[in-house]
Amino acid sequence: MNIVILHASPRKGNTDAIVERVKKYLSADEPIDFNDIHLPKEAPVFCHGCFSCFERGESTCPNANFIQPIAKKIEKADGIIIATPIYVMQIPGALKAFLDHKAYRFLNHRPAYFGKKAFIITNTAGAGNTNAIKYLKQNFSFWGINNITTLGITLQAASLEDMKSARQQKVIKEIEQKSAAFLKQLKTQHSEKRPSFLSVIMFHIARSFILTLPQNNADRQYWKENDWLDASKNFYVDQTPHWYQTLVGKIASRFAFK
Ligand SMILES: Cc1cc2nc3c(=O)[nH]c(=O)nc-3n(C[C@H](O)[C@H](O)[C@H](O)COP(=O)(O)O)c2cc1C
Repeated sequence: MNIVILHASPRKGNTDAIVERVKKYLSADEPIDFNDIHLPKEAPVFCHGCFSCFERGESTCPNANFIQPIAKKIEKADGIIIATPIYVMQIPGALKAFLDHKAYRFLNHRPAYFGKKAFIITNTAGAGNTNAIKYLKQNFSFWGINNITTLGITLQAASLEDMKSARQQKVIKEIEQKSAAFLKQLKTQHSEKRPSFLSVIMFHIARSFILTLPQNNADRQYWKENDWLDASKNFYVDQTPHWYQTLVGKIASRFAFK
């Protein structure tokens, strides 16, 4: 099993301590190949907003030398953990800057992460987990990932060690429970699971948009290679949407780009 961990904290602090506990739990019974990526150090770049990834492919990104080695590790992973502190009620800039670079993997561009399992771990001194988890869940959903475990820890202290004993025990138990839930997801085949409503609607709306793009556009070529431009296709992968999901998707696509 191969898990990529995207670390968003620039220091070896609380996020790191929580991740170490998670890793220990996950690998208790069988070895796991963890790929630790420290975003502030390994991807210290901002998206240029040039649209080159969408139009000409991700290898043409001016920051491809930072982003693509990380992207390749994500492509190969069974699971993705995002571990982040809360800064000013949200995720830190380094994580947002990385996610901006991965917009080309959104459902309306060139999605490729169906079937992967995700674990969102946030921690804060007092507030902000809810905002950040909501945002990161949305990001994963737009990457086509349905199986998402979340853990938001409010320390109410400077560090795990400084917490009051009863609260510390409660948090440690929660870390173990959520790690167990993530591990169960990793070990489960979800091939027969229905796709989410959002992803089915996105498929139909995106297809009507992609068809307006020039033939040599990278998104359009990707959709063509995957056979998604074929009108008989109702989803990206071999999962059968409910009839009503397809109906709503087709109706939405009629109005989207007219
Ligand atoms: C720049 C900055 C902004 C922060 N903003 C918040 C915040 O909005 N709400 C909060 O409760 N804690 C905030 N914190 C505290 C951190 O979320 C908290 O201490 C976290 O455990 C730090 O993780 P780390 O040790 O991995 O860096 C902030 C910390 C920093 C450095």
